Amino acid sequence: MSTRRPCIGVFDSGFGGLTVLKALLKLIPHADYLYFGDTARLPYGSKSVETVAKYAVEAAHFLEQKQAQMLVIACNTATALALDRITAAAKVPVVGVVEPGAERAAASSAKKKVVVIGTEATVSSHAYRKALQAWGVQAHEKACPLFVPLVEEGWNEHRVTEEVATIYLKEAFAEGFEDADVLLLGCTHYPLIKPILHRVAPPHVKIVDSADATADAVGGLLRRLPLADPPEAERRKLPRVTFFATDSVEKFRRLGPKFLGLPVEDVQHVDLKE
Ligand code: DGL
Repeated sequence: MSTRRPCIGVFDSGFGGLTVLKALLKLIPHADYLYFGDTARLPYGSKSVETVAKYAVEAAHFLEQKQAQMLVIACNTATALALDRITAAAKVPVVGVVEPGAERAAASSAKKKVVVIGTEATVSSHAYRKALQAWGVQAHEKACPLFVPLVEEGWNEHRVTEEVATIYLKEAFAEGFEDADVLLLGCTHYPLIKPILHRVAPPHVKIVDSADATADAVGGLLRRLPLADPPEAERRKLPRVTFFATDSVEKFRRLGPKFLGLPVEDVQHVDLKE
């Protein structure tokens, strides 16, 4: 049994994965974290499988070199398009966001009908639909590409975002899915507009967030690994979080707290060579 605190590597295309880190810090404070945001190459949501897989594998190798003992692929697009490729390339256990989110949504849906919203690439991959089908649940997937820029603009409580959400959700809860009882947030940015989504979704709908479900899955995996049980003195220390960004460190420090809800201090610039 290891006496060290576990070191968890968290990967995302940029800032959005900080919503997953937030859930991890709340549930697993006795670990240290390395967060990699590929801010120079975002968004991933409009890119091809080949490109996303290449970027994600590079990031996974980087985090392994920094001694991450487990990888959390916080980016829904990277999970949906490349989880198999990342898992094959990594030497440490890898957890994505799609399976935990789908399992939680399936458990929450009495009607066995779920609406999933995500980026263009996530929706085109049908990764969520396949994962939900395995739980006997029908899914209607809807791409909502305007949400990421609106959230990055900080318009989380803006009338334009509410208008856009109204249009998207009207289209999503249609075509036989008017009675779907769960809305699954299949993108890192969407937890930030949950209040608007609650307002504009049909009133009977429950919102399920992949970030919380993923933190639970990571907690479960940690308990099964030998690195999971540091002594009491180690457990009591506050988590140490080191951030790596491929674009401006200053921008990461400025935008990061909006997603994490905490100050973002120790940010290092990384230049991944092509
Ligand atoms: N992190 C991405 C996701 O969860 C959203 C941002 C992007 O497109 O890069 O799908």
